[in-house]
Amino acid sequence: MSTAIFPGSFDPPTNGHMDIIERASAIYGKLVVAVLNNPAKSNMFPVETRMEMLRESCKGFPNVEIACFEGLLVDFARSMGTKIILRGLRAVTDFEYEFTMALMNKKLAPEIETLFMVTSAENQFISSSSIKEIAHFGGPIEDMVPGPVAERLEKR
Ligand code: COA
Repeated sequence: MSTAIFPGSFDPPTNGHMDIIERASAIYGKLVVAVLNNPAKSNMFPVETRMEMLRESCKGFPNVEIACFEGLLVDFARSMGTKIILRGLRAVTDFEYEFTMALMNKKLAPEIETLFMVTSAENQFISSSSIKEIAHFGGPIEDMVPGPVAERLEKR
């Protein structure tokens, strides 16, 4: 059974992330959505809440597991026994960052491959930062995030 890891900050998860999760869960035997716990970074949502939102949003995908990790991603991938790191790619602007990160991870762990899945056209413009900004000013975000995320953003 092939296992892939889909890592990110997920602060918060968006329909862009959900699109990748849905499509990847149909390809891999198991998909581990790995939330970075980085206390040095100021996130809007604590890691537990980000995991909770993902867990609720991924209820329909029985082969998706939500986990969190600290430190190096490749160490976490090794601990999960997987050789596949999956990342979503939106536009050319994502490429340089993703390219550098993939090369660095390859240097650190040559046996692990980073694979990219192109984000669906309708989600290309969505980012966690823009969702937070729109929600902050009371704008509509329901079409761009899963229900459990919209609920929490509206409460804030
Ligand atoms: N559709 C729409 N938007 C998407 C998307 C998709 N498919 N995939 C990502 N995004 C957006 C997110 O909304 C987010 O937007 P923002 O920049 O406005 O916040 C942005 O792209 C990236 O966020 P996310 O996908 O949550 O990931 P990340 O870039 O924060 O994650 C890690 C980076 C966790 C993979 C990386 O920092 C890491 O591995 N850290 C561990 C330390 C390590 O191993 N370092 C060595 C490697 S260099």
